[in-house]
Amino acid sequence: MKTDDLKKAAAEAAITYIEPKLKLDSIVGVGTGSTTDHFIDALGSIRHKFDATVSSSEASTSRLEGVGVRVIDLNTAPGIFVYVDGADEVEPSNAVIKGGGGALTREKIIAAASDEFVCIVDDTKCVDQLGSFPLPVEVVPMARSFVARSLVKLGGDPIYRNGFITDNGNLILDVQGLNIDDPDSLEKAINNIAGVVTNGIFATNRPDTLLVASAERVFIR
Ligand code: A5P
Repeated sequence: MKTDDLKKAAAEAAITYIEPKLKLDSIVGVGTGSTTDHFIDALGSIRHKFDATVSSSEASTSRLEGVGVRVIDLNTAPGIFVYVDGADEVEPSNAVIKGGGGALTREKIIAAASDEFVCIVDDTKCVDQLGSFPLPVEVVPMARSFVARSLVKLGGDPIYRNGFITDNGNLILDVQGLNIDDPDSLEKAINNIAGVVTNGIFATNRPDTLLVASAERVFIR
């Protein structure tokens, strides 16, 4: 089975998971990435079963509107019933790395604001410990060198994501070589560096529900 078929299976499992719980006034949070794109496409077919969405990126907003789903500003949402998004890596206690697509800050905000965070992945994303995937860190442009030096002090090797600007007008450093044996502490330590907007460890607000697609089945954890 191709990886994209597994992503689609995980996305469709998320629709099956949330559909019975949706109410006509529900607001659904929507992530970013190729797995979430499958979710968006399927969400269009049940758009009459909820009120609107809050989106984590310009790309997802455009795709949502393309399938006829209403997108509203987070500031006008009375609450977010569920947030559905992919991840780049997930470890056994469901802490994840996100941000491969550079949308990590808005993703983290919506995850924090939601009643439930449902993460959808194919089983190639499951690891024993986070960190093989370079950790994305969103940085205010004027702080790039200072933040890079600070990340080196934490044991990392930051690489500037050349030519990439986030939806918030910032840049991304992808950090290799970090020892992420304590995701909660490292998430906080990196976020404490002046100039960091946020980093791609989602441990404080880790997924409540993980749907993993393998060649045999989709399982929940
Ligand atoms: C976007 O910024 C990311 O957090 C994505 O959710 C993550 O990179 C997973 O992407 P794919 O679904 O494309 O693998």
